[in-house]
Amino acid sequence: MKIGFIGVGQVGQTLGPLFNNLGHEVAVSSSRSPEALAGTATQIGAQAMHVNDVMAWGDIIILATPMNVVPSFATDKLKGKILIDTNNYALIRDGHIQEILDGKPTTQWVSEHFPGARTVKAFNNIMMSEFDEYARPKGAEKRFALPVCSDDYEAKVLIMNLVEEFGYDAYDAGSIAESWRQQSFQPAYCIFSELPELKQLLAEAEVPIPPQVIVKSLEEAMPIFEKHKREAQQKADAMALSRKA
Ligand SMILES: NC(=O)c1ccc[n+]([C@@H]2O[C@H](COP(=O)([O-])OP(=O)(O)OC[C@H]3O[C@@H](n4cnc5c(N)ncnc54)[C@H](OP(=O)(O)O)[C@@H]3O)[C@@H](O)[C@H]2O)c1
Repeated sequence: MKIGFIGVGQVGQTLGPLFNNLGHEVAVSSSRSPEALAGTATQIGAQAMHVNDVMAWGDIIILATPMNVVPSFATDKLKGKILIDTNNYALIRDGHIQEILDGKPTTQWVSEHFPGARTVKAFNNIMMSEFDEYARPKGAEKRFALPVCSDDYEAKVLIMNLVEEFGYDAYDAGSIAESWRQQSFQPAYCIFSELPELKQLLAEAEVPIPPQVIVKSLEEAMPIFEKHKREAQQKADAMALSRKA
């Protein structure tokens, strides 16, 4: 398949080589020119293109930019294509997006910008810096699970199969309307958990927008983020231990 990235930062540079290793063709784009992206593209075995060309070329498009640039993209290029939304919303980075602050799931907001795209939410709730380290073969002990949401069942199954090939159990976490459960600072955010714990953590999600999402300065955000990550991981580990005891 042809896999096109819009944005080739941490997410693009982590997932790009994995698609490449599986034998897919990869192309990357960003706000910079293809010439400026040539070095990054070569490192991950990809072609560099303009954003519009990636959208026209790819069978699967991976959106891996800050959320606030989504309104700048053409709306009509992804009809019938699978769009993987990896985004998380943070007020400090993305600014005021009223619909999201009012509780619209971030991926619903994204999918409304690309009518006709077969939108899937995946890969948003874990740290890319740890993605390779925690991947495990099917059946291995402590194989972690990732949630996948979509209203398009076929697209969801296809991306779930990719998740499995990348070394994680894939969990069907429902529709786009339910995808807020895996958003930032919900219980399943930024932790690695096995399937039973992931299901439990998603079920424990309570409100669409946790207050941590709307902190306004980096000084305030970083300690909150570290604390969330530490406590959430401890909780998932404790749940797994008590399940196995
Ligand atoms: N990092 C993680 O561990 C992680 C994990 C899961 C989800 N996420 C979420 O995934 C999204 C991407 O995260 P990231 O960490 O990969 O971000 P990042 O490292 O900051 O990379 C963002 C990419 O978007 C590109 N970009 C920015 N503005 C653009 C525009 N107008 N048009 C096209 N490309 C543009 C940037 O390239 P140029 O500057 O060259 O345009 C860059 O390649 C975010 O919503 C993030 O919250 C991140």
